[in-house]
Amino acid sequence: MVHEVLIPADLLVHEGMVPVRDPTAPEGLEFVHGDAAKPLATPWQVALERALLMDGDRLPVGPVLDPACGSGVQLAALAVALGRPALGVEMDRSRALASAHNLARVAAWYGEEDEAWFRESRIVVGDGTEAAVVLAASGHTSVGVLQLDPARPRNSRTHDLEEMAPSPKAIMAAWVPHLAHGPEGPALLLDLSPRLVHEQRLGMEAIVDAHLPGCPRTWVWGSRGGGRVDRLSLWLGGCATANVARRFLRYPPDGGVPLLFEGGRAVSLGEDLPEATRRPPVRGEHVTLIDAALLSSGLAESWLRHHLGAEVDLHWGAVDGRRPRVHHEGPLALSEDEVGLVQATGRLVAVVQKAPSEATVDDLVALALEHDVARLTLRCSLPDDLQPRLQGSLDRQLQRRHGRRQAFLCEAGLGPDVHLLCVGPVPRDGADS
Ligand SMILES: C[S@@+](CC[C@H](N)C(=O)[O-])C[C@H]1O[C@@H](n2cnc3c(N)ncnc32)[C@H](O)[C@@H]1O
Repeated sequence: MVHEVLIPADLLVHEGMVPVRDPTAPEGLEFVHGDAAKPLATPWQVALERALLMDGDRLPVGPVLDPACGSGVQLAALAVALGRPALGVEMDRSRALASAHNLARVAAWYGEEDEAWFRESRIVVGDGTEAAVVLAASGHTSVGVLQLDPARPRNSRTHDLEEMAPSPKAIMAAWVPHLAHGPEGPALLLDLSPRLVHEQRLGMEAIVDAHLPGCPRTWVWGSRGGGRVDRLSLWLGGCATANVARRFLRYPPDGGVPLLFEGGRAVSLGEDLPEATRRPPVRGEHVTLIDAALLSSGLAESWLRHHLGAEVDLHWGAVDGRRPRVHHEGPLALSEDEVGLVQATGRLVAVVQKAPSEATVDDLVALALEHDVARLTLRCSLPDDLQPRLQGSLDRQLQRRHGRRQAFLCEAGLGPDVHLLCVGPVPRDGADS
């Protein structure tokens, strides 16, 4: 394949690409995209946050390589934050051109057009697995940081590692010999499909072990909410954080600084998903519906123990589905930025032996009022048309009364009829009963 080299600092004409606003980027920083590339681009908030999490002192010298750079958003964020030349490779020429323009846009936004990192940045049109050819075309002799965000098939059921284009295996085979070494060896950041199951993560670990045995590694789960893992990545060598096996990042919708929680065991030691136990609910204990994405990271138990104390007993009533549920002693007090990590938390005050329905809604209102409830949120599986009707009816009836607590109703895991009524504390300006 012929490799054309684009020099972002020498770009003059725009070639008709229309800048598009990335809602997570600051005012005035807009990006252009090549053919069908916009949905593939890393949001600026994510790209920059990742770059800021890297410790420049642990990274080897040399440019930042992205061998499948798409619109170059992640590449540009790493280059500007680390002050290193970008070396992007993209097989689609229109996307390669967009990458070059986006590097220029980022350099201009930061006022760094005269900096060496920008002037030495190159985008190569070609195949990112042809390491020797790319290096020769770009004039670089080795790489400081390798970042890979491969394209993933849209409707894949298997999310096989080999379905990613280019595959992490092919990229490691091609580039590991050309990676410079720093105090922690080479430095790599590999984006993987967020749907990889544990066995596939172990498959990825085996690929790493084949090329970089013993290399330090941090697995990172990223979520924008809704219980979904949106990004899964593996940070290796100089990109990994010392003694951090797993990291969970929750990106707030307003583009602000993400919430970060770290800890857990090496992925090679286990998936670390809790196990559900069948045990009758106990009135007075606390029930928390935890974010399903946090659970997937294997960090849910350490996060809960961090808040509730290392010795607390945790009984998991449900570990899969949309509403993982854990029972524990003592209230879970959360700071405002952590609230998104639980769907609901409260003290169990009643075991309700009836499923919510139009026939039982008045009984539910009466029970809620007995427990000083101002709003009762249904957190259980109901038919799509019934849920809003029942919630509306509960809201209307409770609004007219004088309850003070927030409450929720969830499944008890003991058959379709058994539910748990859990209440929050009385707001500060009222006296607890
Ligand atoms: C998910 S996108 C990367 C998006 C990028 N992180 C961004 O911020 O814009 C992956 C890109 O890899 C490119 N690609 C796939 N195989 C490639 C290969 N062998 N060599 C170079 N580029 C490749 C695709 O054309 C696609 O644009």
